[in-house]
Amino acid sequence: LPVQPFDYVVFGATGDLTMRKLLPALYSRFRDGQFGTDSRVIAAARSEMDTAEYRERAEAALRAHIPGHDRTDQSVAAFLALLSYAAVDGAGEDGWAALLATLAEREGQVRVFYLATAPALYGSICERLAAHGAIDGRSRVVLEKPLGHDLASARAINTAVGAVVPEAQIFRIDHYLGKETVQNLLALRFANPIFERLWNADVIDHVQITVAETVGVEQRAGYYDTSGALRDMVQNHILQLLCLLAMEPPASLDADAVRDEKLKVLRALRRIRPGEVAAQSVRGQYVAGAVGSQPVPGYLTELAAQGGSGGSTTETFFAMRAQVDSFRWAGVPFYLRTGKRLPRKVSEIVVQFRTPPFSLFPAGAHGPSEPNRLLIRLQPQEGMRLEMMTKDPGPGGLRLRPTGLDISFEETFGQRFPDAYERLLMDVVRGNQTLFMRRDEVEAAWDWVQPLLDSWADSAEPPRPYAAGAWGPTAAIALIERDGRTWYE
Ligand code: BG6
Repeated sequence: LPVQPFDYVVFGATGDLTMRKLLPALYSRFRDGQFGTDSRVIAAARSEMDTAEYRERAEAALRAHIPGHDRTDQSVAAFLALLSYAAVDGAGEDGWAALLATLAEREGQVRVFYLATAPALYGSICERLAAHGAIDGRSRVVLEKPLGHDLASARAINTAVGAVVPEAQIFRIDHYLGKETVQNLLALRFANPIFERLWNADVIDHVQITVAETVGVEQRAGYYDTSGALRDMVQNHILQLLCLLAMEPPASLDADAVRDEKLKVLRALRRIRPGEVAAQSVRGQYVAGAVGSQPVPGYLTELAAQGGSGGSTTETFFAMRAQVDSFRWAGVPFYLRTGKRLPRKVSEIVVQFRTPPFSLFPAGAHGPSEPNRLLIRLQPQEGMRLEMMTKDPGPGGLRLRPTGLDISFEETFGQRFPDAYERLLMDVVRGNQTLFMRRDEVEAAWDWVQPLLDSWADSAEPPRPYAAGAWGPTAAIALIERDGRTWYE
């Protein structure tokens, strides 16, 4: 069903995120009939350009990022007809009057201001929107990650934006929360009592969260080198996954009920002390190697090709043993890891259960008895698998082998999985904040990350090298094996 009519204003409209994710997501929602009559998309950026030129770029982006079977020439043309361009200086005065005049053509409809610019501009864009009278009860402001680069800068941005936009109208986006499998965590845990009864330290041995990518720094060296894996992936995506896995049942699915519970998890995360950073975490940076059979250069070489200076100590890999100090999770480690140029693109959660207290069975042909594991695959091939031991068929005695109960979401539902952004972009129009982060949540996540950042800033130790195509530095393997466990592969 169409959502109410809106104007979607995207700042940072010539950037990579807009071209790769936001325009394709908006197009897909349009094509599926979700744009109410008179809805428009207004692309705003600093460059001088007219609407015709922007539409050409947008069309190329749609063709590049949406498979042919998911678009038609006709619907692309109809979408482009709703799209206009406004040259606006987010840090100055140019262009605002014209943008506001365009918005005034449609009094009364929802106005979304999506800020996909450098976060340093969030405050100044919101101040200008407010000064021009564009913030009222119908407006919503979306803030892309990264929200700052540390706790202090995140607070400063939140304060600047919060001074002119009420919290109920601020949507801090984390696209992981738009992924089907991530939302399915709520269904898995709270609609299936068989799991929830087991979801605690009595039964669960440990949890692993892996978000591995095969790509390197791509064309984003300017951003990535100031960020690194901890800020780019852990402070937001991985901590959000951890929160959904570890939180207590919320009283309802209302935004604040869910966010209150996630916040409690962030506050229960054990803060790492400076002296423990090296023992509890590993940061790495890839050097030349091969992903698949493809030779690839090292991070520093990729950086230099994009004009970066030598000697960067930005981490492209991070692993950590985290602890949630709560009744439910006391003593259950959460092993987190993420990196670029790893062997496979895979995002996966592994919940590993304790082994039986006593084994009745001889070691099977397939090796020793394996623990039960629940695998939750975010990508690729979204689905879940419950690994369990069964009897090896045949008369050869009671030998065991591991097998799995598998659900592939694609096979089960036989439909296209929308991109994570699609749902979130429409939730903004609907005013539903459940899948967006509240100010205190974002700041609690930065607060947990901050001691790691401080410790690295104070240390002369560079990140550990790993060959592109390996699962990070060997220290990441030692991190878990020291505890008598192994990364699931
Ligand atoms: C983004 C990061 O937030 O998430 C990127 O900035 C990363 O560095 C991307 O590649 C991964 O998203 P996904 O949806 O492909 O797992």
